[in-house]
Amino acid sequence: MQTRNITDLLLARMPRENVEILRRLGELADRRGSAAFVVGGVVRDILRDIHTCDLDVVVDESAVDYAQAAAAELGGTVKTHTRFGTAILVVPPGRKIDLATARSEAYERPGALPVVAAGGIREDLERRDFTINSMAVRINERGFGELLDFHGGRDDLDAGVLRVLTDRSFEDDPTRILRGVRFASRFGFEFEATSERLLRDCVRAGGVATVSGERLMNEIVLILREPTPWPAVERLSSLGVLTAIDQDWVLGPGLEGVFARVGARASSVGRPVAPDPRDIWMVYLLAMLEPLDREVRTRVLERLRAGRRLRDLAGDLHALKTNSLGVLAAVEEPRRSEIYRAASGLDPLVLLMAEATTAGTRAEERITTYLDELAGVTISITGGDLVRLGVAEGPRIGDILDAVLDARLDGVVTSEQDELAAAERMAKNLDARNKS
Ligand code: CTP
Repeated sequence: MQTRNITDLLLARMPRENVEILRRLGELADRRGSAAFVVGGVVRDILRDIHTCDLDVVVDESAVDYAQAAAAELGGTVKTHTRFGTAILVVPPGRKIDLATARSEAYERPGALPVVAAGGIREDLERRDFTINSMAVRINERGFGELLDFHGGRDDLDAGVLRVLTDRSFEDDPTRILRGVRFASRFGFEFEATSERLLRDCVRAGGVATVSGERLMNEIVLILREPTPWPAVERLSSLGVLTAIDQDWVLGPGLEGVFARVGARASSVGRPVAPDPRDIWMVYLLAMLEPLDREVRTRVLERLRAGRRLRDLAGDLHALKTNSLGVLAAVEEPRRSEIYRAASGLDPLVLLMAEATTAGTRAEERITTYLDELAGVTISITGGDLVRLGVAEGPRIGDILDAVLDARLDGVVTSEQDELAAAERMAKNLDARNKS
């Protein structure tokens, strides 16, 4: 094993307060006669010159007891998970520290969650997915900053290689296939030859089928939340992971462009109906499912235990394709209010997706007009103003307000005074029509 002290890197790539927390956690471990380490992705990122706020700590005693002692000393709250011997400590002003008992893991059957047993740091690192994720840094006072790298993780990081630690790694936990694809794409790494063979063997042998829908979905979401998800999605497809999830899940043509457009549009600021950035993954997933037959799409969503929101969005997308998109694309020169009415009932995520999949067409132009301009148009008058004009309370109020909004969208009215006058005219017309 190579030994090296990387305190300088911790100081350079972690917030000062985090290093301070690590020192105090290390001193606490000293007093309790245990060994403590920062582990996994944090160490990988620090060595790759990536600033990190994560704090994953492993101790060779009960992490639950240790976390309680740490909370008493540092302040904060503890949440524990006794089955796995883990705890989450949140210290003011909201810094989260994941604490785990050093453990070895055994898998009762492939794809299942592991059975855990207490172990030392060496065993704890041995059970991990890739060499680049199997390094630790000691935080006890003596030896603070010492890098533990039993599997050549550092060399693999330098060489840009993803290598599993054991031949059974993917078989034991096939979610590592998706994790590996995510890391390969994020860092521009390649799988080491034997690891890639093991990965392909696991896919071919049906490993993916042993994983629950929730765990698969979780990994897919993580992939789709990466800043540039396309390379990983393409890789999932070429490795046969998508067809392992459902035999008919193949990607449609032109999807790379769709991903690029969704990425660009999702981050374009200033749109009146910008979707929550944390939800954009749903648009990518819908785009991956869009060309499939409805029945296959439903099957994939069921397999992945998709939540309500995603299933609703898939339904909206279907409605859009069968109704609104036709309206948006067919009319030669629609009024702005017509575009508004065709688009305004749809979820912004669906519109974002529709915009990306109709690039270069009339429909795209109109969806863009809606998202950039029309969605933000409002009127100044309210139902109260109409009541003051003598309109009886009831559905007519809504109808008149809708009509005034249409007039505003079409540029027929441009001020609050105009709106009031138009509302008054409409109310009178309605009255006259009702009387005759
Ligand atoms: N791990 C593993 N096998 C898994 C999941 C996690 O071996 N199926 C180990 C890896 O050592 C990993 C660590 O647990 O580094 C923490 O996992 P996680 O927080 O999911 O990932 P990170 O490596 O921190 O990656 P990210 O940057 O995406 O958070």
